[in-house]
Amino acid sequence: ELISKGNHRHYMLKEIYEQPVVVAQTLRSYLRRMEDQVSLPIPDFDLGSIRRVTIVACGTSYYAGMVAKYWFEQFARVPVDIDVASEFRYRAPVMEEGGLMIVISQSGETADTLAALRHARAEGQKIAAVVNVPTSTMAREADLLLPTNAGPEIGVASTKAFTCQLAVLAAFAANLARAKGRLDAKAEKELVRHLSEAPAALNGALAYDESIEGMAHLIAGARDVLYLGRGPDYPLALEGALKLKEISYIHAEGYAAGEMKHGPIALIDDKVPVIVLAPSGPLFEKTVSNMQEVQARGGKVVLISDYDGVQAAGEGCMATITMPKVHPLIAPMVYAVPVQLLAYHVAVAKGTDVDQPRNLAKSVTVE
Ligand code: G6P
Repeated sequence: ELISKGNHRHYMLKEIYEQPVVVAQTLRSYLRRMEDQVSLPIPDFDLGSIRRVTIVACGTSYYAGMVAKYWFEQFARVPVDIDVASEFRYRAPVMEEGGLMIVISQSGETADTLAALRHARAEGQKIAAVVNVPTSTMAREADLLLPTNAGPEIGVASTKAFTCQLAVLAAFAANLARAKGRLDAKAEKELVRHLSEAPAALNGALAYDESIEGMAHLIAGARDVLYLGRGPDYPLALEGALKLKEISYIHAEGYAAGEMKHGPIALIDDKVPVIVLAPSGPLFEKTVSNMQEVQARGGKVVLISDYDGVQAAGEGCMATITMPKVHPLIAPMVYAVPVQLLAYHVAVAKGTDVDQPRNLAKSVTVE
């Protein structure tokens, strides 16, 4: 490989550690710190006429899209549809005038995502592409290229591309909100401030690497693991489960915490570790009450929250991971770090091939 692993044992770990720097690098293209404004690389793109957004992606990129749906709807009040790319074309999606498709792809070459892009273009949609490879096919075919500046990602399991995608999507949602007259200068300033705090918060999250490594053995012996989250942290639960499956080959499922009582709660016993993502914020209490439903059934919980959250709800958990306290906007970026590190250390404990897991490819160019 031309790119070195530096001091790290695997590309994946190196890429996890790069996140504060590459997220900062990415945000630089989307924030004007001096003016307290968000901006786009193509400033004259007509955002005001967008009436509907359709997000299409695969794998980890799809989960970034799921988080972004919350932001587009909350900030810009624009309705968002989201599909995995392999499903999109086959459900006869309704594509109206004023529609924008956003494809999200690290490689910019994933066959299903590219096919969805072309389908939407033929149906008269404008296309925005959040991609990490600026020379890729999707980058070339989009009307609006929104690059993530994550640098080359070598590990098959995506890490830094994901947090950079979130950074771009948050800034894009804010741009759309402003174009729609839904973001006044004060709110924009606040948003820029919160986004600017992401790199330092990512650094803060990385500081828990050793303690996460120390608890990997609690998960490494499990056959099944459940991840729970609510709101924008629900896609993070899905991403956590995906990371664990991809590199440690342990079966894992992500679930919306409130939906657990409609099925997965039947699985709970002391052999199924449950990872709960519960940053302080408007959904904290609700998530904790779902967590207590697990504990009441003998479930073994790993709670990931901030200091206040761990103080309030950590008792009775098998383990806790303390994150920096952050604004809910950047929590999905920050909480990506512990789920990545947990999957990584579990995989190392199991001795799997972390950077090249079996049966998986970095870029899937067949349908
Ligand atoms: C493969 C990779 C995943 C990635 C997905 C989408 O499955 O193993 O890590 O998330 O493709 O790739 P893309 O390049 O479109 O983001």
